[in-house]
Amino acid sequence: MAHNDNQILSNTFVLAPEETPNIKTRYRRICTPLPSPETIPDLQRAASLFPDVNCYQPPIIWDSAEGFTIKDRAGNQWIDFTSTAVMTNTGHGHPAIREAVTKHVDSGGLMGQFSFASDIRIELAERLVNIAPDYCDKVYFWTVGSEAIECALRLAREAGLCQNAKKYHVLTHQADYHGWTLGAHQMSGTSASKPWLATPDSAIHHIPFPGSDEPGNTDWSEFLQNNLAPLAEQGITAEKICAVFIETMQGWGAVPLPTGYVKALRAWADANNVLLVFDEVQTGFARTGKMFAHAHYDVRADLLCIGKGLTSTLPLAAVLGPADILDLLPPAEITTTHAAHPVSCAAALANLDVIEDENLISESVRKGDIAEGSLRKLQERFPDVVSDIAGFGLLRGIHICDPKSGKLSRELARDWTWAAVKHGVMLFQVNRPSIKVCPPLIIDDDAIVEGVEALGDALAAILS
Ligand SMILES: Cc1ncc(COP(=O)(O)O)c(C=O)c1O
Repeated sequence: MAHNDNQILSNTFVLAPEETPNIKTRYRRICTPLPSPETIPDLQRAASLFPDVNCYQPPIIWDSAEGFTIKDRAGNQWIDFTSTAVMTNTGHGHPAIREAVTKHVDSGGLMGQFSFASDIRIELAERLVNIAPDYCDKVYFWTVGSEAIECALRLAREAGLCQNAKKYHVLTHQADYHGWTLGAHQMSGTSASKPWLATPDSAIHHIPFPGSDEPGNTDWSEFLQNNLAPLAEQGITAEKICAVFIETMQGWGAVPLPTGYVKALRAWADANNVLLVFDEVQTGFARTGKMFAHAHYDVRADLLCIGKGLTSTLPLAAVLGPADILDLLPPAEITTTHAAHPVSCAAALANLDVIEDENLISESVRKGDIAEGSLRKLQERFPDVVSDIAGFGLLRGIHICDPKSGKLSRELARDWTWAAVKHGVMLFQVNRPSIKVCPPLIIDDDAIVEGVEALGDALAAILS
């Protein structure tokens, strides 16, 4: 059944206008029922044209966005807590990025370039190598994060095969997300067991994610060894493992890994010539208060996958790493038409300038503290619902329990998401028992506080 038949699925919304509180503040304005009646025909058109799988976000037609606010054409305005799926780190339509893109297009730069070199591409690669850890001396450009992950998977296996013919097994953590393409999807959490995968990649393994409920005195080396033991029993020992992929913070709920665990992984990887690949697609570019979030764990990353906040706008992704790994593929072995489109490169260079000029790394830390303070108050107000607040910088997750069952609840997360939108705070549906609070890093301090208070009002409205 199509989701627009007013039949609510566990992860969808109803296309019928609902009453909203009338809100008018400096940052928020809600002046119509939602979904706004005038947008319903278009939402219905969308539902008839787009596959159901694409129709699961709150039914709001984004008309324009500027800085940290989003507007629809009916006159409603939201504080953006999504950064468009954690992408718009420097804010919507930053004037510097707008200008750089326009200038590049107007100067004859609106051309695809395939694998030809260009000044702007070289300049961006140099810039990335400069901000990346020292040992990263090459940049393998792609268009989206999932492709960067696929590329790192291939490189990691090539590197393993240089050591021995059986070193191609790859580990990731349960509940990680690494993208949707064939390899990336199989590395993502439990998706490898989905029936559509006729012949799942039997050399991708998911090991337990070290939960926050592990005791403070956990011996992380022992924890790791215990999790590797079932694989070893199947004959998959370290000499057959080429890489561990790590979602640097699990995106669904902004969950970091314990530093001791990552250090134990690093020590084990060093001892066994295994690569640690950090998926920084969501966590990179100042989002968590560091340029790259693996720096929170104070370990070396052998490969870094980046995307999203690299441009804050246009599609661009990359793998950063040392030449001896990135050069493992011979020329022309893998090419793609749109990678490092020059207009995306222009956006990325301007975006990197903004991150530097506006001190967005330290701003992310400072504003993250403001967000954390407000979110802790929210947790005190709703202790039965807010089971945890996680994250660093402006990548925060609220973990949500159903107060009746005490169990984590995707349904309540969805209902709260919609209620928040009706209260003037844009959230995106994570499809998990969580709400993500990840506004653009340029958000005003008082808009963070106002937005979190509005989340509280929204929850109070659905619990009453
Ligand atoms: C951690 C992580 N890795 C990979 C991806 C895939 O990136 P893309 O959606 O650009 O393919 C995402 C996207 O949300 C992500 O959050």
